Amino acid sequence: MTILAMDQGTTSSRALVFSDDLQVQGAAQAEFQQHFPQSGWVEHDPDDIWNTSLTTARQAIDKAGADRIDAIGITNQRETVVIWDRKTGKPIHRAIVWQDRRTSDLCNKLREDGAEDQVTDTTGLLLDPYFSATKIAWLLDNIDGARERAEAGDLAFGTIDSFLIWQLTGGAAHVTDATNASRTMLYDIHKGDWSEDMLKLFGVPRALLPELRSSADDFGTTSADLLGAKIPILGVAGDQQAATVGQACFEPGMLKSTYGTGCFALLNTGDKAVRSQNRLLTTIAYQLDGKPTYALEGSIFIAGAVVQWLRDGLKLIKKASETQDLAAKADDSQDIIMVPAFTGLGAPYWAPEARGAIFGLTRNTGPAEFARAALQSVGFQTRDLLEAMHADWSDADEAVLRVDGGMTQSEPAMQFLADILGASVDRPQNTETTAQGAAWLAGYRAGICPAPDEYAKAWKLDRRFEPEMPQDQRDKRYSAWKRAVKAVLSA
Ligand code: G3P
Repeated sequence: MTILAMDQGTTSSRALVFSDDLQVQGAAQAEFQQHFPQSGWVEHDPDDIWNTSLTTARQAIDKAGADRIDAIGITNQRETVVIWDRKTGKPIHRAIVWQDRRTSDLCNKLREDGAEDQVTDTTGLLLDPYFSATKIAWLLDNIDGARERAEAGDLAFGTIDSFLIWQLTGGAAHVTDATNASRTMLYDIHKGDWSEDMLKLFGVPRALLPELRSSADDFGTTSADLLGAKIPILGVAGDQQAATVGQACFEPGMLKSTYGTGCFALLNTGDKAVRSQNRLLTTIAYQLDGKPTYALEGSIFIAGAVVQWLRDGLKLIKKASETQDLAAKADDSQDIIMVPAFTGLGAPYWAPEARGAIFGLTRNTGPAEFARAALQSVGFQTRDLLEAMHADWSDADEAVLRVDGGMTQSEPAMQFLADILGASVDRPQNTETTAQGAAWLAGYRAGICPAPDEYAKAWKLDRRFEPEMPQDQRDKRYSAWKRAVKAVLSA
């Protein structure tokens, strides 16, 4: 038995073929173009998203030498919005990406009108341009005739999972899963349905929306001509939620953090939707057999992206992998703090207008100190998230952080993370947690993969990082970070 996982991310589309015991048989990846039409705007061409997804799926199947695929799991960049014509399948505009800040003013206005409490009560989210609702409203208000066509039922909205399923099924299925729905700011996470109040608040016609499903469910069958046969799509989850599943964080109190472009930490809170008092998000971790499991989420927009900046912006390194060797040469007597607020700050500050800064420069500061400060900024930001989680949910004290994503290959970065948290950090052997989570959801629905507790037993530790930094130094360094963030927020 073989499962295809399609992982459609912010900068690339990936596809992996898994055996029924979830071993990778073949993989392919393709980057695609990012469009920045104005400052703070980020768009993707939906054709690029579809073409790279289909091509990588075909390549992965070829590489695996698989003569049949039994099920497909889809995981995706979340919140990103596509609207297309139901008859022609043609998008009415480029996709507006989760990072896009064009609707900041609309969010501010709704906040001034006193709407934020109701939004958070219903959706678990905060009024920030990050989420889908204001992006949909922007498209309906700025593309000629879009609102009328949406009201007449001629258009369809989808996050990237929905859009891919529409393409894969030749327009037969317009569906999404609860995790992706929970990022739109149109979904009532308590009732498990689209919220009429939110649709009214954001002016979104219900006729635009996809049908809702659990994360392991029937999402339709692919057109036979695309991947050589009709294949059922049986698993769907947003990428951070798929990583939560891939890390086997099935018990309340389990916590994972994924280090990609940004960093997203999710704490499983079981059947309790915990309302954060510390500006974290309440979201659906996964939904099985109609039953949602909730999570508290902390989202940081810049993690691995700070290393890209060292490479492409400052040109201090040629390859991302050089960062740790450079950082190792840093002078220990210098306390440089970098706040990488390049696109504002996410949780727990939510300051879209904030911009980055570096503190503590001396005449001896050079590339090595910049590299170390960049790696450490990721640890400091993670501590901010975990502090907020502990304040919101006392049971979080016991949690050991499971980490994944490219940056976890850096031993010094992970050691600093454990040091600044004052807690253990577990890196698993499996580095494909996101794709594996999607594959497991599909395999579970197909009856190929074991139940959650059995699957959890297969999770294997690669390395546990234990804190080594003395407490007084940890406190001193973290206080310096907090002062730096305060300065950035008041600049
Ligand atoms: O919420 C945004 C997140 O889903 C993006 O993930 O890995 O595509 O940068 P990634």
